[in-house]
Amino acid sequence: MSAMQKLMGWIDDRLPLTATYKAHLSEYYAPKNFNFWYFFGSLALLVLVIQIVTGIFLTMNYKPDSELAFASVEYIMRDVEWGWLIRYMHSTGASMFFVVVYLHMFRGLMYGSYRKPRELIWIFGVLIYLMLMAEAFLGYLLPWGQMSFWGAQVIVNLFAAVPVIGEDLSIWIRGDYVISDATLNRFFAFHVIALPLVLIALVVVHLIALHEVGSNNPDGIEIKKKKDPNTGIPLDGIPFHPYYTVKDIVGVIVFLMVFTAIVFFAPTMGGYFLEANNFIPADPLKTPPHIAPLWYFTPFYAILRAVPPMFGSQFPGVVAMGLSIVLLFFLPWLDRSKVKSIRYRGPIYKIALALFIVSFVGLGYLGLLPATPIATIFAQVFSVIYFLFFLLMPWYTSIDKTKPEPERVTG
Ligand code: HEM
Repeated sequence: MSAMQKLMGWIDDRLPLTATYKAHLSEYYAPKNFNFWYFFGSLALLVLVIQIVTGIFLTMNYKPDSELAFASVEYIMRDVEWGWLIRYMHSTGASMFFVVVYLHMFRGLMYGSYRKPRELIWIFGVLIYLMLMAEAFLGYLLPWGQMSFWGAQVIVNLFAAVPVIGEDLSIWIRGDYVISDATLNRFFAFHVIALPLVLIALVVVHLIALHEVGSNNPDGIEIKKKKDPNTGIPLDGIPFHPYYTVKDIVGVIVFLMVFTAIVFFAPTMGGYFLEANNFIPADPLKTPPHIAPLWYFTPFYAILRAVPPMFGSQFPGVVAMGLSIVLLFFLPWLDRSKVKSIRYRGPIYKIALALFIVSFVGLGYLGLLPATPIATIFAQVFSVIYFLFFLLMPWYTSIDKTKPEPERVTG
C-alpha cells in the first residue's frame, strides 16, 4: 500500500472523504442528455465564489462611514494595487450573477424542474433569489454615490407605505429618519457577513436536496425509473465526474471570456452595470432627475409603478410587487400538466411561457424608463400577463394537449 493510500485510509476511518467523493462525484449519476441550459448552476456557483473572494479584498480597503465611503472606493480604484480590477470584477459579478440565475430559472420553467420530486430544490432556489436581491440592494448603498443614496431612499420608503406600522418600520430599517451613516453601517454588516452566510447555507441545502432526488433533464423524465437490474445504476445516467466536471469547465471558460471582456472593455456596460450618477458623491439635498434601479430589479419596479396608488398610498403597488415574487414559491403546485418538459407540452403552455417571458423582459425595459402615461399602460398590460401566467396555470396546464413522453431520454 502506498503512503498516499495509507493516508487516505487513515482519513476515511475518521472522515467520510472517499465515500463523499463517490456519492457526489464519481458515482453520482446524472442524466446523459444535459444541454446548454444545464451550465448555469455551476456558473452560479462560480460567480458566488468570485463575489466572496473579491468582496473580501474590497472590504480590506473600503470604509463603511458616510464621510469616507465614496472616497475609499475612489482610493480602491486609483491607488490600491489591482483595486480597479477587484472592484470591477465585483460590480460585473453582481450583474452577471443575475444573468446566470435568470437563465437558470428559465431552464427550470422550460423543463418543469420545479415539479415533484424537486419542489424543495425550487423553493430553496426562490429563497436564494430573494437573498440575492437583498444582497445586491444592500451592496449598492455602500459606494455612497447619488444612486446609492436615492435608490435606498426610494426602496426604504416603500416600507413606509405599509398601513399603520409603515412609518415606524422605515425608521427601524434606516436606524434614522433619513438614509444616513447609521443606515450605511448596518447595510455594510448585512452585506458582508449576515446575508452571505445565509446565501451559502441556502446554496448548500439547494444542492443537498438536488443530490437527494437527482437532476431533471431536458426530457423531463425520471432516469431513476429505469435502472440496470445488476448494478442499480440508472441506464441513462453517467458519472458526474469526469463527464460533467469536464463539460462544466467548457462553460466556465466561455463564461470567463464574456466576463473578462466586460470587466476590461465595458465595466459600466453603458450604465447598465454601473450607473453614471453613482460616480457622483451622495447629496441628500439634490435628488437626481431620474431614479432607476439596476436592470435586474426593473421588472419588479415596473410592476410597482404600474399599480395606481390608493388613497394616496403606494401600498397596492408594493403588495403587487411582493406578490409577483411570492407566486414563484407556488409554481410546483400550480402546474397540473401530465408532463414536465416543454418538449412534450401542448401549444397552450408554450404560448403562455413565451408571453410570460415577453412580459418579464418588457417590464424590465419599462422599469428603466420614466413612467410616462403610455409606458404605464404597457407596464399594466405586461403586469396582468405576468400574474395570469401563474393564476391561470392550474387551468391551462390541465386542458393543454400534451404529447406522450418517451420511455428513455432522447439525444
Ligand atoms: C446562487 C445561486 C444558485 C446556485 C449556486 C445554484 C446551483 C445549482 C446547481 C449547481 C444545480 C445543478 C446544475 C444545474 O442543474 O444547472 C442547480 C439545479 C437547480 N436549481 Fe439552482 N442554483 C442557484 C439558484 C437557483 C434559483 C434562484 C432557482 C429557482 C428559483 C434554482 C432552481 C434550481 C432547480 C429547479 C434545479 C434543478 C434543475 C434540474 O434538475 O433540471 N436555483 N442549482
